[in-house]
Amino acid sequence: MKVLLIGSGGREHALAWKIAQSPLLDELYAAPGNPGIADHATLVSLDVEDHATVIAFAREKAIDFVVVGPEAPLVAGLADDLRAAGIATFGPSKAAAQLEGSKGFTKDLCARYDIPTGAYQRFKTAEPAKQYVREQGAPIVIKADGLAAGKGVTVAMSEAEALAAIDDCFDGAFGAAGAEVVVEAFLDGEEASFFCLSDGKTALALATAQDHKRVGDGDTGPNTGGMGAYSPAPVMTPAMVERTMKEIIEPTISGMAKDGNPFSGVFFAGLMITAKGPELIEYNVRFGDPECQVLMMRLKSDLLPILYATATGTLDKVEAEWRDDAALTVVLASKGYPGAYDKNTPIAHIPDASEEAKVFHAGTALKDGRLVATGGRVLNVTAFGKNVTEAQARAYALAAKVEWENGFCRRDIGWQAVAREKV
Ligand code: AMP
Ligand code: GLY
Repeated sequence: MKVLLIGSGGREHALAWKIAQSPLLDELYAAPGNPGIADHATLVSLDVEDHATVIAFAREKAIDFVVVGPEAPLVAGLADDLRAAGIATFGPSKAAAQLEGSKGFTKDLCARYDIPTGAYQRFKTAEPAKQYVREQGAPIVIKADGLAAGKGVTVAMSEAEALAAIDDCFDGAFGAAGAEVVVEAFLDGEEASFFCLSDGKTALALATAQDHKRVGDGDTGPNTGGMGAYSPAPVMTPAMVERTMKEIIEPTISGMAKDGNPFSGVFFAGLMITAKGPELIEYNVRFGDPECQVLMMRLKSDLLPILYATATGTLDKVEAEWRDDAALTVVLASKGYPGAYDKNTPIAHIPDASEEAKVFHAGTALKDGRLVATGGRVLNVTAFGKNVTEAQARAYALAAKVEWENGFCRRDIGWQAVAREKV
C-alpha cells in the first residue's frame, strides 16, 4: 500500500513510525512532515490547504490511502474532497468534524441523545451570557465555540473571571472561533481521554490516556496543547470503560449517523470522571497530541490495516491489541511557551532510541543542515515501563540527554498515577 500522511507534529511522527513497521506498506509519504518523520517517510512540501494540490499529488504517486493527522484540514473538509476524488482517507468529514470544530454542536448532540455532560447555554452576544453567569455563579466554564488551539477555554473560579472571559471572546481574542460562546457548568473530578475508532457504524475502543494541559508543575499556569501524557489512565477501570462506551460513545456514533453526519475516523472523548460517573467535556476528531505518542508505543497490532478498516467501513473485522506496560511522554517545549518564544534555537543533540524509549519530533526543522526548534512544543521523549513510575523514570532519564538550551519541560508528568502506584 502507498500511503500519504498529512501533518508535521509529534503525533504524526508517532503515526509514521508505527505505519512504517507495517508489512502492508510499500511507500510512505508525509506532507509536510518533519525531520523525525523523514526517518520513515519521503517528505513532500504540499500546501495542505489547497485540496486540489493534495489530490493531484495522490493521483500522480498512485496513493492508495491518505491518513490525516491534525484537526484543521479535517474541519476544512480535506477528507471529503479526497474521498470525492475516489481516494480512501482516514479522517472524518467536515460535517462530522464539527464534533471538535464547534463546542455548541457537540453540546446540542449530547442534549438530543442524553449523553452525560455539564449543563450549558450557547450565546452570540455578551450581555445574555453574562446574565446567565450571574444566575449560575462560579465556578463556571466559558468556552469559545470554535477551534482555538486548546486556548479557548476558561475555567473561571470567580464570577469576575467568567465575565472577563466572555468579554475576551466577543472582543476577538480567539478570532472567529469566539463569535459564539458556550457557558458550561463546572465539573469536578479526574480527567481522562478515551480513544475510539469508528467507521460510521461500529465503534472500537482503543485505549485511555491522561494529558497534562497546564504548563507548570502541579498543574499550574496557563493551558497548553499538552505538556505530557501517559497511558493507560488508571481512573478508567474496566467498569468505567464499559459505562463510557454505553453512555457516551455508542449514543454519539448512532446519533451522528441518525443526524446524517456519520463519523469515520479516530476521536477521543475528554472525560471528567465525576462522583456521578463519566461525563463528556469535549470531543476531538483526531488522535491527541501528545497522547498519540503513548498510544502508538503501546499498540502491539499493525496500525495500517486498522486505519484502513476504519476508513473503508470494515472496522468490525479488526481488533487492536495493546501492551500491558505503561507508556509516558514528556514534552520538551521552547522557553516562553505557551506565550511568545524564540524560533530556530539550535538542538545540539538528541539521544538514540532504545527498546524502551524514543524521542519523537514535534516542532523541529533542518536549517542549513542543523536541527533547530521551530515550534512551541518541540520534542516528545517517550518511554515504556512496567508501570507509570518506571516509564516516568526512563522518560526523564532520556530527556536529560537531550542537548537543547532553549528547552524546558514539566518535571512531574504522570504525578497522579505515580502517587497512586505508591499506595
Ligand atoms: P477543552 O478544550 O474543552 O478540553 O477544555 C480544556 C480544559 O478545561 C479541560 O481539559 C478541562 O481541564 C477544563 N474544562 C473544560 N470544561 C470543563 C468543565 N465543564 N468543568 C471543569 N473543567 C473543564
Ligand atoms: N493533547 C490534547 C489534544 O491533542 O487535544
